[in-house]
Amino acid sequence: MCGIVGAVADREVGPILIAGLQALEYRGYDSAGLAVLQGQALLRRRTKGKVRELEQLLQSDPAPARIGIAHTRWATHGVPSTHNAHPHVSSEMVSVVHNGIIENHEVLRRELIAKGYAFTSETDTEVIAHLIDALQRDGLDLVQAVVSATQRLHGAYAIAVLSAREPDRVVGARRGSPLVVGIGLGEHFIGSDVQALLRVTNRFIYLDEGDIVEIRRDAYRIFDADGTPVAREERETDLSADAVERGEYRHYMLKEIHEQPEAVARTLEGRIAGSRILPNVFGVDAETLLAQVKNIHIVACGTSYHAGMVARYWIEALAGLPCAVEVASEYRYRQTVVPPGTLFVAISQSGETADTLAALRSGRASARYLAALAVCNVPESSLVRESDLVLMTRAGPEIGVASTKAFTTQLAALALLTLELARLNGIDDARYEELVGELAALPRMVAEALKLEPQIALLAERFVDKQHALFLGRGASYPIAIEAALKLKEISYIHAEAYPAGELKHGPLALVDEHMPVIAVAPNNQLLEKLKSNLEEVRARGGELFVIADTDVDVKLDPDRGALLRIDAGNNLIAPAVFNIPLQLLAYHVAVLKGTDVDQPRNLAKSVTVE
Ligand code: G6P
Repeated sequence: MCGIVGAVADREVGPILIAGLQALEYRGYDSAGLAVLQGQALLRRRTKGKVRELEQLLQSDPAPARIGIAHTRWATHGVPSTHNAHPHVSSEMVSVVHNGIIENHEVLRRELIAKGYAFTSETDTEVIAHLIDALQRDGLDLVQAVVSATQRLHGAYAIAVLSAREPDRVVGARRGSPLVVGIGLGEHFIGSDVQALLRVTNRFIYLDEGDIVEIRRDAYRIFDADGTPVAREERETDLSADAVERGEYRHYMLKEIHEQPEAVARTLEGRIAGSRILPNVFGVDAETLLAQVKNIHIVACGTSYHAGMVARYWIEALAGLPCAVEVASEYRYRQTVVPPGTLFVAISQSGETADTLAALRSGRASARYLAALAVCNVPESSLVRESDLVLMTRAGPEIGVASTKAFTTQLAALALLTLELARLNGIDDARYEELVGELAALPRMVAEALKLEPQIALLAERFVDKQHALFLGRGASYPIAIEAALKLKEISYIHAEAYPAGELKHGPLALVDEHMPVIAVAPNNQLLEKLKSNLEEVRARGGELFVIADTDVDVKLDPDRGALLRIDAGNNLIAPAVFNIPLQLLAYHVAVLKGTDVDQPRNLAKSVTVE
């Protein structure tokens, strides 16, 4: 998703802007650009492609300056191209970068054309530049012009604006998309997230919805949406720039897969003592609230949605509470029935996913829910700030677009929630303690599962030439099969689908022939015999069968038509999280062999701040 950086300093800002864009590359993008002011001269450099191409452009056509804004664009309106890349400029005076979507851009475009403005791009963003220019021509200063312009914008935005009429400042604004202010010594910055600015500061302000900020070299001012000055708290982050480095790993995704034992341990740390979950894990007084829960609605997108699907199996089986799970983009536009005593649970790595946030807001606005709980990885995110209860996943920064450690830590967090709800709903005490003990073993089990990597890397060679793959699971392993199919398709571009194994005979079996690899997740549980029958159906039709099974599970295979990989997946509760590890590794190694861009797969973005 689009990334924004802005800087006002007493030194060259080019390297700061480029480093900021590099730190935002993980969000996914297709073009990059910057605008700076040399005195009152506005210089702009833009390119389709990667930040390194922008860097090359700056080497051949330098634009040294002490104030500037920069952007990575993920196309929404208009193809990826230089003329659609940001910054957009009006009258050689005003320059704007934007993250989000301006829904009323067509109306504004017509109005501005009538005023004599000529448009040079197909983007929705260009209207903002012309709007601000027109307001400045009417005599407003830059802050007033941004206040006024943003009042006309419908939709989601974070913007940064530069004006040659006030060449000592950058003005930013946010509504629906994130923006932070970085406070340095005699210099100030803005960025889409703190990662963009960790090389220059560790002091930040997290802007509220509707805020407008003006940064100058030695000062900043913040205003609410009406232009009234407001104070916002300054905070220090303990995130270091090193925490977001790739280190010795070839890809961030691989690093993040290997970080999972520690990430899960952090998620559980201080939350389990002996064989019980500690009080107040969900916040002070949460217990009284959770005790009233009669029903759960889980809402999320992408991989986070799959974590929610696993949780549904757990919550209904162990806490005995009805639980519905839905993708946020559907939930937000649907008439929903909310029975009394329903807890709303939003799951999101970033806490900024537009659909998930909108679902949370509409859920809360309807006042039909008992409370809203955020399961999230970013403490200062909008989702966390707008929820009643919070359970942080503590995965650490996740850079790879394909989510791995965020998913596994979400499962750990959701297992905590399940067991707490189970306890409050009268699960047998010995059984509760046994399950908590099993959850506590998850970091060790994940570390064991990672040892399968050499075998998986070999297995991956058998997938490189495939066009399609089918994943099967039953029970809580079914969402794991869906997540595995998503991982494979998003980073290796192999078309992959997942089915509950029992559904095979109702359609997908028609696809099975010698070209179709079928990957099955086979935990040793009450569904194993059923699953084995489904696998026989595949074998009988000549399908290639790859089974990831519990250590003590035996599956009939034709040696040259598949492979069996054994893993100690632990008990039923944590097995989905453990089976997930070799499947992540499989997607990773297939993608590496295919030579795709593992960390930034084509067309995808990380923090999806648009609908
Ligand atoms: C994007 C990412 C996925 C992620 C999904 C939800 O599609 O590419 O990896 O699962 O958004 O993101 P969230 O931050 O809300 O978990």
